[in-house]
Amino acid sequence: MASVPNSDELIFFVNGRKVTEKNADPEVNLLYYLRKVLCLTGTKYSCGGGGCGACTVMVSRYNPKTKKIHHYPVTACLVPICSLYGAAVTTVEGVGSINTRIHPVQERLAKCHGTQCGFCSPGMVMSIYTLLRNHPEPTPEQITKALGGNLCRCTGYRTIVESGKTFCRESTVCGMKSSGKCCMDQEERSFVNRQEKICTKLYNEDEFQPLDPSQEPIFPPELIRMAEDPNKRRLTFQGERTTWIAPVTLNDLLELKANFPEATLIMGNTTVGPSIKFRDEFHPVFISPLGLPELYFVDCTDDGVTIGAGYSLAQLNDALHLIVLEQPKEKTKTYSALLKHLRTLAGAQIRNMATLGGHVVSRPNFSDLNPILAAGNATINLLSKEGKRQIPLNSHFLERSPEASLKSEEIVLSVYIPYSTQWHFVSGLRLAQRQENAFAIVNAGMSVKFEDGTDTIKNLQMFYGSVDSTVVSASQTCQQLIGRQWDDQMLSDACRLVLDEIDIPPAAGGGMVEYRRTLIISLLFKFYLKVRRGLNKMDPQKFPDIPEKFMSALEDFPIKTPQGTQMFQCVDPYQPPQDPIGHPVMHQSAIKHATGEAVFSDDTPPIARELFLAVVTSTKAHAKIISFDASEALALPGVVDVITAEDVPGSNNHRGEILYAQNEVICVGQIICTVAADIYAHAREAAKKVKITYEDIEPRIITIEQALEHNSFFTTEKKIEQGNVEQAFKYVDQIIEGEAHVEGQEHFYMETQTILAIPKEEDKEMVLYVGTQFPSHVQEFVAATLNIPRSRIACHMKRTGGGFGGKVTKPAVLGAVGAVAANKTGRPIRFILERGDDMLITGGRHPLLGKYKIGFMNNGVIKAADVEYYINSGCTPDESESVIDFVVLKSENAYHIPNFRCRGRACKTNLPSNTAFRGFGFPQATVVVEAYITAVASQCNLPPEEVKEINMYKRISKTAYKQTFNPEPLRKCWKQCLEKSSFYPRKLAAEEFNKKNYWKKRGLAVVPMKFTIGFPVAYYNQAAALVHIYLDGSVLVTHGGCEMGQGLHTKMIQVASRELNIPQSYIHLSETSTVTVPNASFTAASMGADINGKAVQNACQILMARLQPVIRKNPKGKWEDWIAKAFEQSISLSTTGYFKGYLTNMDWEKEKGEPYPYFVYGASCSEVEVDCLTGAHKLLRTDIYMDAAFSINPALDIGQVQGAFIQGMGFYTIEELKYSPEGVLYSRSPDDYKIPTVTEIPEEIRVTLVHSRNPIAIYSSKGLGESGMFLGSSVLFAIYDAVTAARKERGLTKTFSLNSPATPEWIRMTCVDQFTDMIPRDDPSTFTPWSIRVS
Ligand SMILES: Cc1cc2nc3c(=O)[nH]c(=O)nc-3n(C[C@H](O)[C@H](O)[C@H](O)COP(=O)(O)OP(=O)(O)OC[C@H]3O[C@@H](n4cnc5c(N)ncnc54)[C@H](O)[C@@H]3O)c2cc1C
Ligand code: FES
Ligand code: FES
Repeated sequence: MASVPNSDELIFFVNGRKVTEKNADPEVNLLYYLRKVLCLTGTKYSCGGGGCGACTVMVSRYNPKTKKIHHYPVTACLVPICSLYGAAVTTVEGVGSINTRIHPVQERLAKCHGTQCGFCSPGMVMSIYTLLRNHPEPTPEQITKALGGNLCRCTGYRTIVESGKTFCRESTVCGMKSSGKCCMDQEERSFVNRQEKICTKLYNEDEFQPLDPSQEPIFPPELIRMAEDPNKRRLTFQGERTTWIAPVTLNDLLELKANFPEATLIMGNTTVGPSIKFRDEFHPVFISPLGLPELYFVDCTDDGVTIGAGYSLAQLNDALHLIVLEQPKEKTKTYSALLKHLRTLAGAQIRNMATLGGHVVSRPNFSDLNPILAAGNATINLLSKEGKRQIPLNSHFLERSPEASLKSEEIVLSVYIPYSTQWHFVSGLRLAQRQENAFAIVNAGMSVKFEDGTDTIKNLQMFYGSVDSTVVSASQTCQQLIGRQWDDQMLSDACRLVLDEIDIPPAAGGGMVEYRRTLIISLLFKFYLKVRRGLNKMDPQKFPDIPEKFMSALEDFPIKTPQGTQMFQCVDPYQPPQDPIGHPVMHQSAIKHATGEAVFSDDTPPIARELFLAVVTSTKAHAKIISFDASEALALPGVVDVITAEDVPGSNNHRGEILYAQNEVICVGQIICTVAADIYAHAREAAKKVKITYEDIEPRIITIEQALEHNSFFTTEKKIEQGNVEQAFKYVDQIIEGEAHVEGQEHFYMETQTILAIPKEEDKEMVLYVGTQFPSHVQEFVAATLNIPRSRIACHMKRTGGGFGGKVTKPAVLGAVGAVAANKTGRPIRFILERGDDMLITGGRHPLLGKYKIGFMNNGVIKAADVEYYINSGCTPDESESVIDFVVLKSENAYHIPNFRCRGRACKTNLPSNTAFRGFGFPQATVVVEAYITAVASQCNLPPEEVKEINMYKRISKTAYKQTFNPEPLRKCWKQCLEKSSFYPRKLAAEEFNKKNYWKKRGLAVVPMKFTIGFPVAYYNQAAALVHIYLDGSVLVTHGGCEMGQGLHTKMIQVASRELNIPQSYIHLSETSTVTVPNASFTAASMGADINGKAVQNACQILMARLQPVIRKNPKGKWEDWIAKAFEQSISLSTTGYFKGYLTNMDWEKEKGEPYPYFVYGASCSEVEVDCLTGAHKLLRTDIYMDAAFSINPALDIGQVQGAFIQGMGFYTIEELKYSPEGVLYSRSPDDYKIPTVTEIPEEIRVTLVHSRNPIAIYSSKGLGESGMFLGSSVLFAIYDAVTAARKERGLTKTFSLNSPATPEWIRMTCVDQFTDMIPRDDPSTFTPWSIRVS
């Protein structure tokens, strides 16, 4: 290979400041550079692969040709810094800051309650900000489109969209406002009773600063000069291992390509970047023609359009859009098909980075564009020093046949896409796990040309993606159909032929084999219908139209901008204005979230001598470690040490949790050793070089079924029984038996597990900064591991980017792992888990198997239930015992079954240990309950809601474990939910819709909920606080609870404000720490605000009691005067506050107790539409009624309810963990684990906080952190309802089993039809599937 010259200076701007980098390394990406070099930590790392949007920044470039500045969003983790020469980067810090001026985007996101943990917020701000730079008055659709590439795990998106919508020309916050008549205004008027007065506004739009585009920073003039410089020259950046060369002209590029034929051309880096990061590809030389004017053009001729290879997919979209507007429809069918897929391909950031040339050349097997381009007869214009060449973008090219590919010295100059013609149809079809920003499960590009004026096939092309290692063509099928009429017989033959031609083997990678086979022909059928409809439009006399009932099969679900309303109890007008309790106070850190100034653990500046830790984990599920060799790793540059079990001075196995595996591994992903190095990249490289050999140990237990076979359990059976179950079964009309499988869930908190462990010089002290829900647990584990007293371990926690239960126990194990490394090396350790490691190592929600036997009368009354639950705990106990307790205790849900037996056991398997997750077993177990209720309804021929109503608790009752409760709020939520959602009329309307539509079906479901908060162990419910009043009157509140987005600190400030009778601005809450509040309980089980609130209240009341004499003497005095006086009188201005906890108990021997302090009730109703041909679904509307008693902060509570609902909806529908039969978790990134995005949330969501009384809790409030999760199951059951309608129409009346999640695969394969009947089925005994169910 030819040699390359020395490095140039890299010049770009960040937030208006010039950056001159003399040692630009092509391997360094912008995210790293911003965070580690420029110390701009507002931009967050969450996945590193472009899939989450947390690292979104705006890039602006000046185009000397058009003299225009182009602003676009990018994911900084995929932008090599070398690609930024001449660009201006704007990060969240450059948009606005608390110290200068916050930008309206930041202000509105915060004030509309669009931030919770705040980890996604800078990315959200940047996406909306960039949109506004291009469109200062965007449409609601543009807002939704701009946010499609940004994931948020907390909020459920609605509030974020709402903040964006405030910039739209017409504020469309309420869907009906544009009519001048807001639906909510009517509600407001109708509630006249003071107690029940309902409010609907969570913020005041009048407070918002206007957006003034003229205030935006100007594009740096120096960059304009640089761009217009006629003497631009080739640039070279020489890194540690890699060289980057940026040619200055097309000829220069061709010259370089000739000189370095093996060099990789790099454009958007959206294929190359992930390959380097996740597949360890190495590229010694990059040639980057990004910005080369010759690659950016659109050339329309009489036959078609030629588009420059440098066009980003977003630019391609805009160009095609214009052409489609200008040209007659018949000419633009290929372009329209491309536009449809361009709308959902990745998110806005990737579409702005990825180029047409890069897309075409990289030929991913999942490509959404190549199948259409091929079907539309596109050609690729190639260029090299030797000259021009044109190759067809056809099957040979896509299937990577060497003679049809680029030569090493060639580049793609442009792609030519011909116009379609009159008797020519082109379509793009796809199905993915979620609508936007997800690789297709199967996609296709199809085209057919007819003999003019006939339906005789002249030419047919069908290309499929995601069915093999490349996009494939069904060319033989197409060939055989030439000359045939476009009729049903042709379709039937085509299906058979294509299934013969495209063979997806039973064990194919990616799994879903039968589903993908079905999609191949279902998509073909859709194309068939589209073409028939098209023919009919051209000549209705000659070509009959498709049946009216089939019409809705033609279109994919539209992406609509979600809208919503919320209702909550107004604050009593007589409440003092300063008292914030009951008001929708913005999250204490919301503005800081939105400006990126909220500091997360990894945002702390570098600590002197710190080391970075990378993990080496087991690749075997159950094996003996035969050999371990770290010598190669230790020899690598920057590596300081390799840490193993032998380095643990204390206990390596604390409470059954193993820190470093020793001798034996018990799951894939178990930590065997860690590597400490000067930078993370060195640690990671070295970790790959550690050599471990294993010898498998039997048995290897992965699934619950295998655990049952091997009698492998952690716990003894937990049981609750009432009545006489056996006897009752004898007298019932009917008995059904069944089972339901509920798979697990990944927490997917946006901030991965983060630990900073800093050893101190003296007394073996160690300080840790950890993103945790349970600092004292981290302290306990570190102390036990290092064998030193807990008093020497200080664990600090300011905030964490989402927890959802995943940061209750795991940070303790990881904290101890990091502490051992800090202890051994004597240096600070920064231990940040990569997304993939986090997903692999830390476990998630327990998969659950429920087996039931139900006895009932023909009128739907359930007389007896015998239910067994098994959870897949994974390899260590963690919290599995508590989870199974909860499952057994809570699973009766809202129903009274007089003869009821419920048993549960936690299975020990060789999966990573599962742990706490929002709802703690309840969301899984209640699926089983709702499943058997639905099955009973089906057997009795009754609607499920009727059977629910019949069996629901109605009056003051005792639970199966004999706890007395009053279900009045449950009845209220249920009744209001049915009434206000217009459930019955809408159900009728859905039935009407279903009669008229064969391939799309609507379904509705309503679910009731009786949830509990807290723990059956009384001492878990205690809490403490520490409140100091300083002499200037300012107050510092500390308590034992952790802030992870739920707004706990905000509520605590509200409590202190009311109790001390001072404005919230006087009160500060900085962090949670084991130093200030010892032995604090976890922040979980929905009781954070309950118990810490009582402790803060207690502390404040103690202080106020002390101040009373001073206040009495000077009742008109100011707070500051009283404090000064109190100090003079030697009155202590500091105290702890304490809450002993709720007196809960559970006697498992007697199967009775009062395990929970109170109940939270709710109901939700959802309506969906499913596409029976693809399995896609669209959530049309959700109504939630949640019993909040009296909400301390309706904005935060509604935020929790909505966020939990969307997380639940994800759990029950699209979130799917995939395990190999050997126990390897495949789904380790946002690419292969799909949490909901903005396109999945209900088109309309209405949330109502229902008022009730709860004197036991602070200010009669209720803990609402978890309960919304289960309400997401209304979507699952609505899907079930829709699928039932489809099956009924197809003559299948038998009850069918319901499992969770109801993925597109499940929906499609359950909507049995002629296509599912047609596909080849495999004998399960003849192959090992790619993935297995573990529940
Ligand atoms: C998070 C994420 C989500 C995605 N989602 C989707 C999706 O839903 N559907 C889908 O279809 N795709 C998806 N993609 C893939 C994306 O479309 C491609 O990665 C992208 O189009 C590649 O373009 P690029 O400019 O980034 O290529 P690069 O990564 O820069 O280059 C890719 C390859 O093309 C070569 N190359 C680039 N330009 C030229 C040229 N002009 N001449 C010769 N060779 C060239 C390079 O040498 C390299 O080998 C996704 C990607 C990411 C990261
Ligand atoms: S961190 Fe860059 S997209 Fe996720
Ligand atoms: S607020 Fe969006 S991830 Fe937490």
